[in-house]
Amino acid sequence: MKKDFHFSYELLSHWKELPIEDQVLVDKAFEAVETAYAPYSEFKVGASVRLDSDAIVTGSNQENAAYPSGLCAERVALFHIGASFPKQTIKTICIVAKGTLIPDYKLLSPCGGCRQVMLESENRQKSKIRIIIVNQDNRTMIVPSVIDLLPFGFGS
Ligand code: THU
Repeated sequence: MKKDFHFSYELLSHWKELPIEDQVLVDKAFEAVETAYAPYSEFKVGASVRLDSDAIVTGSNQENAAYPSGLCAERVALFHIGASFPKQTIKTICIVAKGTLIPDYKLLSPCGGCRQVMLESENRQKSKIRIIIVNQDNRTMIVPSVIDLLPFGFGS
């Protein structure tokens, strides 16, 4: 039996085309980039998360000389939410980055580990989390749900 998986996403040429509420979230992710500690990769990532209270929580990648001990921006933000706002529902997560590891024109895309963590957040809250990814050339991708980024994720 052959089965297909389809998902839709939206592409904008610049994040300034987003509604103002999302532009605020993007601004916060850009602010978070500046708090990244990334001396090893020199690739700084910022994540901002809008909760249903409309509070915005941010995270940035935090590296370590013992490389695997570091953590991605998305997980820094999501685990902070788990620890400090466990009852809140996540509406949207925005991801931005700065560095040459990924060229400006290339799609910035969350790593598999962050997708798995985002998926579990989505499953726990039983409602979709929107993902806004802003490339370094400002092109912007909007994905309606984490399941679109990780079909068949573990535990889903
Ligand atoms: N990184 C993130 O923060 N998020 C991702 O989704 C992918 C990668 C970080 C990890 C590491 O500090 C640096 O980017 C280079 O991989």
